[in-house]
Order: sequence, then C-alpha cells, then structure tokens
Amino acid sequence: TIYHATATAPVNIAVIKYWGKTSTKLNTPTNSSLSVTLSQDDLRTITTASCSAAFKSDGLWLNGDTHDVSGARSQACFAELRALRKAKEDNDPSLPPLSTYKLHLISENNFPTAAGLASSAAGFAAFVRAIADLYELNESPTELSRIARQGSGSACRSLFGGFVAWEKGIRDDGNDSVAIQIAPESHWSTIRAAILVISDAKKGVSSTSGMQATVATSTLFPNRASIVVPARMEAMKKAIIERDFETFAELTMADSNSFHAVCLDTVPPIFYMNDASRAAVRAVEEINRCAGKKVAAYTFDAGPNAVIYYDEENQDIVLGPLKKATANTPGWPDKYSHINTTLPE
Ligand code: DP6
Repeated sequence: TIYHATATAPVNIAVIKYWGKTSTKLNTPTNSSLSVTLSQDDLRTITTASCSAAFKSDGLWLNGDTHDVSGARSQACFAELRALRKAKEDNDPSLPPLSTYKLHLISENNFPTAAGLASSAAGFAAFVRAIADLYELNESPTELSRIARQGSGSACRSLFGGFVAWEKGIRDDGNDSVAIQIAPESHWSTIRAAILVISDAKKGVSSTSGMQATVATSTLFPNRASIVVPARMEAMKKAIIERDFETFAELTMADSNSFHAVCLDTVPPIFYMNDASRAAVRAVEEINRCAGKKVAAYTFDAGPNAVIYYDEENQDIVLGPLKKATANTPGWPDKYSHINTTLPE
C-alpha cells in the first residue's frame, strides 16, 4: 500500500522582516516578524507526500528534479512529524505504522523557484502540511509552524492565510518561536500585492548566509533587532487591526529600508536591491506624493524584485504610473514581468 496526501501553501511576503538568528540549530530569529500571505491562486507550492513500507529512502522532487533531504533542516522536520505520528500510533495500535515508513515528497512551484520570491517559505510550509495530513495529525497550524520554522524561518508564517506574526519566543528550546494569525484575509480583503519581477536569476547571497554575516558584523543590527523592530511590530499589528493603509505603508517601507540598511552595513556589504529596484522606490514615492497620501508601499526581500502593496480602490493610480515608470525610467530591465496577486475574499 502507498499512503498519500496533497497540500498547498502560498508564498508570504514580510512587511516586518525576519533577518538574523539567535540559534542556527533551532532556527530561531533575533526579532519577531510579520507578513501577508498571498492567495492560493497566485504563488504557491503544491506537495504530495506519500509513504510506504516498500520505499527504500526518503526523497524530495521539486519541479521534477531530485533535492537532497539529508540536510539538518529537512531532517528536523521529518523527525518532529514522525514523533507526532508515533505518539498517535502508540495510543491506537490499530493504526498503520506510517511513522516507520520512508517518505516521498513531490513538490511543484507555480513560479520561478530561486528568484527571491519566498519559495522556501511556501516550500517548507507545504512540506510540513502535506506530511501532517498524510499522518492525520490534529496539531494546530501554530504547532505545525514550530516544525516548519526549523525547515525555513519564513515558512512558519505560510501555515496561515491573511496577516501573520512570527513571535520570536523566549524559551531556550525555541518551542514558543511560532506563527500566529493577527487577522484573517477577510479582515482586509481589499489589500493587493503586485510583484515586479526585475530578475528571476538565483540570488547572490542566500538569506541564511546573509543574515549570519549581518549578525556577526553589522553595528546597526543590534539596534534594529532589539529596539526598532519590537516597536514596529506593535504599530503594525494596530495598523492591520484598524485597516489603516497609510500607517501600514509607512511601516512597511521603513522596515524594508532598515533591513537593506543592515545588509549594506554588513562586512563585506550585501546588495540585494539594484538600480531597477531603486527606480521602483522612486516611482512609489512619486505615486504617493501625487496622491497626497500613501496609497502604495514597496518592500524588497533578499533579491531585487519589488513587491508593491496597495488597496484595490487605488489600483489605477498605483499600477498605471508603475507601468509607465517601467517604460520611461532608465535602470528598468528589458525583461520585466508583473504578477498582480490578489488575496482571497
Ligand atoms: C528577507 O526564511 O529564507 O525574506 O530561515 O535561513 O531559511 P532561513 O531564511 P529565510 O529568510 C527570509 C528573509 C526575508 C525576510 C522575511 O521573509 O521575513
């Protein structure tokens, strides 16, 4: 018999960034973070997990290619999920012993994988969700987020839709470093994210090694992690609860800039944004100036691609000028695509 289950997980884009670890073993962050999960219809990973007494080894295939699962992160996720299944089997001996079988994971992204489009977030979230479903685990999304965090930090936030905080936690074992939903997508269903794919090339410095270097060398970083971000987390939660787009936008742009500032302050400096990214910043600043208020917010992860948040009611005044800027602004690449992603109702 082959047992199987399929699950999807969407990409999330942080508005308060995770950057820095207190433990590489536990994958616990130096600061809490907050993100918006995109709709399932847009950027997502779909994963089928199967297991059988006949399988010889654990394996993962992503978009048809085999991927190594011998690394500590995949192993940590496998071990945690198997332990939960084992506890279930110990309680009910009539259950098949799936915890003892090898696992095969078949995964597909509907977007370029290493383009700095949060593929590891959707990837590990779908990985954990699919195995949890296969094992018929009843653990909450927050409990599963504790496991997904060990695969990739940002993945813990993709276990939920809507507006999600990853609370850094205070325990030494990392067990309270989990994601919680601040508000469901229905709370603010008019918010939209446009993703400007400036480059779909693989990123130069991986987030994992980049954040390690920042923690080790940046003198600006301790202030960001211990003072700036904690205050911003509280202000951002309030802005989301109140559906206050102007404050949401102000905090989102400030935090993206703060994250890229600590990257620049790293030795040697890390540059994720490029000329085209900076042109997107200028275009958004100009759009907001013309509107007389903040109607758009940019944010950049560990790569040059821009994510622009806006409210649906301002779609024309935001996307119109953005499209014009791509045509007229030097620094925009010839090859540039625009994915207009929407959150579900
Ligand atoms: C800039 O979650 O990819 O996107 O935990 O080492 O796998 P690891 O890092 P990862 O880092 C994401 C960093 C970011 C900001 C964010 O998503 O919060």
